[in-house]
Amino acid sequence: MSQTSFKKIAEDNMQPKEFSFDKENMQLAKKILKIYPKNYKESSIMPLLSIAQIQNNGWLPKKAIEYVSSFLEIPEIKVLEIATFYSMYNLSPVGKFHIEVCTTSPCMLRGSDDILSFCEKKLNVQIGGVSKDKLFSLNRVECLGACVNAPIVKINENYYEDLDLNTTDKLINDISNNKKVKIGSQSGRKGSEPRKSSYDKKR
Ligand code: FES
Repeated sequence: MSQTSFKKIAEDNMQPKEFSFDKENMQLAKKILKIYPKNYKESSIMPLLSIAQIQNNGWLPKKAIEYVSSFLEIPEIKVLEIATFYSMYNLSPVGKFHIEVCTTSPCMLRGSDDILSFCEKKLNVQIGGVSKDKLFSLNRVECLGACVNAPIVKINENYYEDLDLNTTDKLINDISNNKKVKIGSQSGRKGSEPRKSSYDKKR
């Protein structure tokens, strides 16, 4: 397994020579830009970085940061500040499936540390690492904002919730085997409805 930190800007030999939005993303970027007043167009840095990252297989090369800054006609540093601050942006290559395990207090109280260790072992990847076959990368992140369904794991753009070791195992197996996986709660509850009590179950 190789070790990397996804917030560290990738070495030059990993950087693509150029980046620009494809046709579909160009249309989407123009739509996004229209949401914001002309004098606040830098407010669209985050959604533009997100579509750039998805287009570039889950990480942002230097050329994408330059591209977004020239697209918005703002200094590159403003884009770089955002890209380096938020854990949702990766500055070096990730696996085909980038797994982020939330380990902030509510998730930690619901077993996220065990889930993280389980993922390390099962995937043979350390935190901040990419598997040899480049299929998986693993990271520990702060609150993903879905504490009510803790513990939460984010894989690429989707959230998987109410996990335990069995459902995490199944999720990883299904993803590896290209099976369709259910996004959201893995415990069978709808959204964040209250867990059924033994009293409810008898009714
Ligand atoms: S603490 Fe994990 S989602 Fe908030």
